[in-house]
Amino acid sequence: MKLAILGTGMVGQTLAGKLAELGHEVMIGTRNAAETMAKTAPGPFGNPPFKAWKDAHPAIPLVTYAEAAARGEIIFNATSGGGSLEALRLAGEANLGGKILVDIANPLDFSKGMPPSLTVCNTDSLAEQIQRAFPKVKVVKALNTVNALVMVNPNAVAGGDHHLPICGNDASARATVTELLKSNFGWKHVIDLGDITAARGTEMMLPVWVRLMGTLKTPMFNFKIVQ
Ligand SMILES: NC(=O)c1ccc[n+]([C@@H]2O[C@H](COP(=O)([O-])OP(=O)(O)OC[C@H]3O[C@@H](n4cnc5c(N)ncnc54)[C@H](OP(=O)(O)O)[C@@H]3O)[C@@H](O)[C@H]2O)c1
Repeated sequence: MKLAILGTGMVGQTLAGKLAELGHEVMIGTRNAAETMAKTAPGPFGNPPFKAWKDAHPAIPLVTYAEAAARGEIIFNATSGGGSLEALRLAGEANLGGKILVDIANPLDFSKGMPPSLTVCNTDSLAEQIQRAFPKVKVVKALNTVNALVMVNPNAVAGGDHHLPICGNDASARATVTELLKSNFGWKHVIDLGDITAARGTEMMLPVWVRLMGTLKTPMFNFKIVQ
């Protein structure tokens, strides 16, 4: 498939690398390719600048958000929560069309340091803001509740015996994303929570996730639902 990853951070790099390795035609989108390649500062968690990753993945094109969205059949939003609406505006309504947008972003506000707070919660969510701004797009909220390395390799945690919630207004888009996650990354347990308002809850899992990471001292964990 032709898959567009919007975002050059750890999530964008990890998803693009894995999906390309699996044989998909992947492109990664950014605001300005030349500026992104010229950055020399390490990422927010000390990860190497984007150029180091790109040099190791020469076959994956770095293009504008608009070009990535135009070429991708399915689009992944791996931009920072505060920048997602702007990134999608730059991607362009016409390029996004009626495609599936897998929204991985979390509305985290780090402006007052750690722990981050949520810029939207309770009665609304970032995913709903995106869905309202782009009504034709089939927004599916997924993967935002796990670390990037777990997204593409769930078996690295407890042999994959844990759960991933997804939601979105279009049932067939939810089914397509579920199948994509299972067949590409090996997810065993994807829980379909129904319409996009469920993203209020899945985004509000983040304060707990951040706190757990501080206690467990590793991002390699996930939630397991038992009945
Ligand atoms: N890190 C994880 O393991 C993890 C796990 C689950 C969910 N998430 C969520 O996934 C998203 C990506 O996380 P990340 O750590 O990979 O990277 P990030 O540092 O949160 O985001 C980097 C990306 O956001 C874009 N961006 C920032 N401000 C923008 C703006 N105003 N307009 C347009 N684009 C903007 C950057 O664009 P340029 O390329 O142009 O600089 C870059 O591509 C976040 O929402 C995060 O909460 C992360």
